Amino acid sequence: MNAFKLIIDKSKVKFLYDNTKFEKGLEEFQNGGFSAVPVIRKDGTYLGTVCDKDFLKTYSKMNEADRKRKRTEFRNLTVGDIIRPDWNPAINVSKDINDVLLLSMQQNFVPVVDDMNVFIGIITRRDIIKLLSEKNGVLASDSVWNNTTEDKDAARKMEIAINQLQKNVEPYEIFSKMYEAAMKEICIRIETINEMLKIKYNREPLNQIVHRIKSAQSVLGKMSKKKLSATVDNIQENLYDIAGVRVICSYLSDVYEFARYLQEQSDLRLIKRKDYIANPKSNGYRSLHLIVEVPINYIGAMKMIPVEVQFRTEPMDYWASLEHDLKYKPTHNSKGIDISAQLLECSKELADTESKMQDLAELIMGMDTNDTDVFY
Ligand code: GTP
Ligand code: MG
Repeated sequence: MNAFKLIIDKSKVKFLYDNTKFEKGLEEFQNGGFSAVPVIRKDGTYLGTVCDKDFLKTYSKMNEADRKRKRTEFRNLTVGDIIRPDWNPAINVSKDINDVLLLSMQQNFVPVVDDMNVFIGIITRRDIIKLLSEKNGVLASDSVWNNTTEDKDAARKMEIAINQLQKNVEPYEIFSKMYEAAMKEICIRIETINEMLKIKYNREPLNQIVHRIKSAQSVLGKMSKKKLSATVDNIQENLYDIAGVRVICSYLSDVYEFARYLQEQSDLRLIKRKDYIANPKSNGYRSLHLIVEVPINYIGAMKMIPVEVQFRTEPMDYWASLEHDLKYKPTHNSKGIDISAQLLECSKELADTESKMQDLAELIMGMDTNDTDVFY
């Protein structure tokens, strides 16, 4: 269960249009037994929430005689005229679940809107409590959220609730959807570059493309290594590899060409570039890494989402796979062979071979690599 799943869609929610006549609104309130109802404009934008007190207040202002005398004025009165605009504010759908929690402290339900302030639906306090109590058993009763509870006490309990929620991996689902979209977007762009390069060189420059979303467990692990609490905000600000794409190219020159065409795309924002091909890591690891932010529209909200893109050739890839396995094994085998030293040697040999292969490819296919910044 996450915040999005908690939204009760507009189609299932009782709401009133702002131009609904006061008398008609009152009638609907009396018949429906509601205590508060969202009010929207004809264009779908959220205006505010009207409650039974608003009707009562307006009604009581007019005594019987008045009501008869001011009949036309009274008749023209609409629901939009009686709402208090700052009461029961709405929340943007892209907001954090913690913001929903904060608002729900003061409201029985939180109206949810998109970036254009269009009413999407509501999240009820009851459902939030249910989510919390199901997940951590801390808030098993509604009493915590009761308006009659002392403010100070409520604030403290609120803090506990938020803490519990932050420890919960479920909110991860909310924004991992955005990362998934960003990851797919990068894959499509890489494939498009490939189509272009295929025409340019009349061969297949893209060998393989793989992608993954970091698991919630792995995110939490990385956050604790960084000694940061795993709040949604912290995760977004500190982890750039939630979405990962690995582009395995045919030739060394392709690595740089793919990277260049991607990073030159004007709507992307280059955050970081690490060239472990020009400057291999001390263990021999080689790849070109870019962190690019991609604009993603998700339920009406636009966000720049980072994706880690690793460009490498096949030899770089199989070296990295083998080296990765070493992480879980001792660096010296039973015969006393220093595996990491051997791997480093392999990396250098592979780099050397790759460089020769690149020269050969240029001779055979006349590949123009002048416009790439190949260092090997
Ligand atoms: P991480 O915290 O591991 O993400 O490293 P970083 O933030 O310093 O970024 P860097 O660009 O160095 O590494 C990102 C990713 O590249 C890693 O998650 C691995 O997938 C890969 N990588 C980096 N270094 C190595 C290495 O020495 N061996 C292997 N096999 N992969 C590596
Ligand atoms: Mg990583």
